[in-house]
Amino acid sequence: MPIDVSVRPTTEGDRTQVLCSVREAFSGEVGDGREEVEIVEAVWSLDASMSACDLVAVTGGEIVGHVLASLGRLDRLAIPGIAPLAVRPDCQGKGIGTALMTDLVRRLDLRGFPLVVVLGDPGYYGRFGFQPSGPLGIHYLPVGADSPHFQVLHLGGHHQACTGTYVYSWEASNEL
Ligand SMILES: CC(C)(COP(=O)(O)OP(=O)(O)OC[C@H]1O[C@@H](n2cnc3c(N)ncnc32)[C@H](O)[C@@H]1OP(=O)(O)O)[C@@H](O)C(=O)NCCC(=O)NCCS
Repeated sequence: MPIDVSVRPTTEGDRTQVLCSVREAFSGEVGDGREEVEIVEAVWSLDASMSACDLVAVTGGEIVGHVLASLGRLDRLAIPGIAPLAVRPDCQGKGIGTALMTDLVRRLDLRGFPLVVVLGDPGYYGRFGFQPSGPLGIHYLPVGADSPHFQVLHLGGHHQACTGTYVYSWEASNEL
């Protein structure tokens, strides 16, 4: 059942609770959340301008979810890539992921980005309009050039030149 949730930009004071939520959300049969926590910490340690959008979901004064988009490269273009999206396990299925994604997309659109990418379950991200990126000429090589899990959502600022190979912010900084 949906609950009353507000979404706002993440502050420095939220960081401990955010990392807890991320770790808990991704802990289970397939992992312990460490990889996703490391991604968040890596983005936070980059130049702040690389963080395109960093949001928390709050209910009853507690942080129950988080989403982060940072500026990766699509060839020469700076393009936001979402990673990770996390909702605390005890709060899942109540519309919090949807609230975070809806606000994130709205904010990225307002800033004029042509598109946003995500690596995840097409069954979930499809509901926000994401589609597999391969047929649109956008590839993320670590998952294979045509993985249906790497997806793209065109935003208002979209133009034809948005094709190529995507590199996430923390991967690009490793190449320097
Ligand atoms: C995926 C996640 C962010 C969704 O957040 P949430 O607050 O539970 O989602 P919402 O309540 O907004 O939406 C729930 C709907 O999404 C569906 N859903 C959740 N995870 C899904 C998935 N992996 N694939 C397809 N559908 C999914 C639910 O079945 C539900 O469908 P319904 O509305 O038809 O009943 C959350 O479950 C989570 O943090 N999971 C663990 C971490 C994770 O997998 N993150 C995403 C990486 S791709």
